[in-house]
Amino acid sequence: TPYMHWPDTMMEFLVEDGVLFSCDGFAAHLCTETIWADEAGEDVDHEVWYYYDAIMRPFAGYIRRNLPKLDEFDIKVVAPSHGPLFRKEPRKYIDAYKEWTVDKAAGKKYVPIFYASNYGNTRRLAESLDAGLKRHGYDTELVNVVPLDVDRFKELLERAQAIVIGTPTFNGDAVKPIWDFLNLISTVYMIGKKAAVFGSHGWGGEGAKLVTQRLSGLKLKVLDHDLRARLIPSDEEMAGAATFADEIAAFFG
Ligand SMILES: Cc1cc2nc3c(=O)[nH]c(=O)nc-3n(C[C@H](O)[C@H](O)[C@H](O)COP(=O)(O)O)c2cc1C
Repeated sequence: TPYMHWPDTMMEFLVEDGVLFSCDGFAAHLCTETIWADEAGEDVDHEVWYYYDAIMRPFAGYIRRNLPKLDEFDIKVVAPSHGPLFRKEPRKYIDAYKEWTVDKAAGKKYVPIFYASNYGNTRRLAESLDAGLKRHGYDTELVNVVPLDVDRFKELLERAQAIVIGTPTFNGDAVKPIWDFLNLISTVYMIGKKAAVFGSHGWGGEGAKLVTQRLSGLKLKVLDHDLRARLIPSDEEMAGAATFADEIAAFFG
């Protein structure tokens, strides 16, 4: 069961007693007097979800490929390496993992456009891209990353077929809310998803370039050029944004 949660993670099944030793799968950071979840007197549902959210969620794509391997076993007890063991409804959290790791992006054309904008200049570009991508049949959503809504943004990232990110440049850098947002990407399974970057700037325009580099480092496939406009986008630059939407659509496929 690779990447549940390390590359070499291996679950084992004790046939005689029907015990699945599931390593980090279905685990919880919970230390109780009893080894049995049904005697723990704790909110085990929450603890198992919390462990999944914090530890396992970045590997959702691997987990959903591994879970069907458990279908063939007559499991009577699930014994993770952290937290209590499950003997009542032993498949409860296997089923929960199936639900949590389902590919939420499959068959959808949902493309959130995450942006930050101090004076509305990057926002103007975002609106043009939003309209352009909608014309290509994408289900887009403009998402201001201020304030950082961690749980919602993680959900949106998982639902996304691809993402578009806009940042202005301040002091030769992308702005902090965008870096905070980018920090969420590694907390969900985004490997191989496509992305495009844009932003308004005054002179150097380093923000968009740095975001592109970061996304590539996170193993997303990023459109090889970004969209930049100087300060308040001119009519010409807004026309360029419409063209950029066409290029994004061709790239996202
Ligand atoms: C304090 C300050 C620092 C800035 N630093 C840069 C910079 O280093 N490089 C650059 O290209 N533009 C810089 N700009 C220009 C902004 O990127 C520009 O105003 C942009 O249009 C802002 O976009 P927004 O309205 O989406 O925030 C700076 C602007 C301000 C006010």
